[in-house]
Amino acid sequence: MNKSVGILGIGSCLPEKVLTNFDLEKMVDTNNEWILQRTGISERRILDKESPAYEVGVQAAKRAIDSAGITAEDIDLIIVSTETPDYLAPSTACIIQREIGASKAAAFDVNAACTGFVYGITVAQQFILSGMYRYVLVVGCEALSKVIDWEDRNTCVLFGDGAGAAVLGTVEAGYGILKTYISADGSLGQSVTIPGCHMTEADIEKRIHENKKVIWMDGSEVFKFAVRAAAQAVQKVLDDYGMSMDDVKLIIPHQANIRIMQGIAKKLNVSIEKIYSIIHKYGNVSSASIPLALDEIVREKKISKGDNIVVVGFGGGLTWGATLIKWNIEI
Ligand code: COA
Repeated sequence: MNKSVGILGIGSCLPEKVLTNFDLEKMVDTNNEWILQRTGISERRILDKESPAYEVGVQAAKRAIDSAGITAEDIDLIIVSTETPDYLAPSTACIIQREIGASKAAAFDVNAACTGFVYGITVAQQFILSGMYRYVLVVGCEALSKVIDWEDRNTCVLFGDGAGAAVLGTVEAGYGILKTYISADGSLGQSVTIPGCHMTEADIEKRIHENKKVIWMDGSEVFKFAVRAAAQAVQKVLDDYGMSMDDVKLIIPHQANIRIMQGIAKKLNVSIEKIYSIIHKYGNVSSASIPLALDEIVREKKISKGDNIVVVGFGGGLTWGATLIKWNIEI
């Protein structure tokens, strides 16, 4: 393949409001020590009740477009990954298209839960490789706070809100996305659910406030799946490309739990130093977590042109996937 697709610009945005473990102690039967030890999370960002998720998505998108050195008018397609859309219709992608003035862009949402950003960039790559589009904006835009039961300690301590975005386009051959892999197993889908237009009796029974359309999760099942699937996906993209872990500078996993990251490191036999974590300050921001981490890595100059990185996602669906990238931007 003589054409390569890579990230041309990246940006992110977080709500200002910080919710600490100590704040949560006042809301449910939990404590800072338990949350920190079991998850690695100290605090998370939360949108105000009246603020829609798309607002942070718009800011992240604008920053990514600026950093790519193009304008919104240049964008051909907007893909938003979200499992917490403000509306079922219009899609968050259409709302962001309107807000940033990307008047010639097509727009749609992708829902692959926490794997959404990996799915999004994989879809974007296909459109660019086929020659159909030149610039594709992928935004991970999430407001988990809006689908949480704040009286359920099993879930309310885990999640946060935020958005991260990337502009993808053609890059120097041999750089950018070297290999990407996405997968799903719908037969395991009931282990993490957020009801939409319909709820079954089983969904109702599982929730503390039965009729509330909030997130429910079998934490330990998802935990085991996450470690297994993430390690497999990372190994697969490396094997498929013919690269070893020694060639990789950083692994940027979906940020769900520090112990999941430790499990991935152990399974892959790599030092935890190689696994990038921002979980302590933002919690699990679903499909926004990978671009949020990537934006921080770029801003703090933790990678250079030519470094190999792997982003790896896992989550509801169940879905998982990984992308091996040779970083193509001089930082
Ligand atoms: N504060 C205090 N205690 C809590 C608690 C909280 N916030 N949440 C749960 N507990 C309690 C449980 O009630 C349980 O008590 P019991 O033993 O008396 O029944 C105990 O802590 C242990 O619960 P358990 O579920 O076994 O804990 P865990 O070590 O598996 O950690 C998760 C729970 C949710 C943190 C962990 O399973 C996880 O991170 N899973 C992955 C979830 C995820 O990120 N999914 C998103 C999709 S990617």
